[in-house]
Amino acid sequence: MVKRRSFLGYFGIGWLTACFPVVLAACAPTKSTTQIPNKPAEPIVEPKGTATPAAAQTTEGFTAIGTVADLEQNGYLQTKEVAITKNPANPQQLLAVNPKCTHQGCIVKWIASEKKYDCPCHDAEFAADGQVVKGPAKEALATYSAKIVGTQVMVKI
Ligand code: FES
Repeated sequence: MVKRRSFLGYFGIGWLTACFPVVLAACAPTKSTTQIPNKPAEPIVEPKGTATPAAAQTTEGFTAIGTVADLEQNGYLQTKEVAITKNPANPQQLLAVNPKCTHQGCIVKWIASEKKYDCPCHDAEFAADGQVVKGPAKEALATYSAKIVGTQVMVKI
């Protein structure tokens, strides 16, 4: 006859043996639901009227950031790294600037009707060539060389 104490001991060992695989499975690391293997990178979605960096081509240090047709239609091209307009004083000339405000780094936006860049953070204003029109920014936007090659607007960043 099995004694009560022995029965409880056997029952406990059996219970632990039955639960052990479940405990191991619960403690094992799981794949994150945010990681999807072999998923292609998401394209950068630019606001309407801006260039598509994914279509960039490089030639002698110049990178295509948009088409002449887009520049003509929108009056400017802008990515995270560069903003391009025609020179208001000489429409045959392109002006390319870094759209990162020199005050605290917000991204400026071209205001076509006023022919200037406006910073949404503290209202600094910059001319098309990047010069400060109104503070609090004290330094001009960085500038780049730009040119048209065929149907592409090219910038040397
Ligand atoms: Fe542009 Fe302050 S970050 S004015």
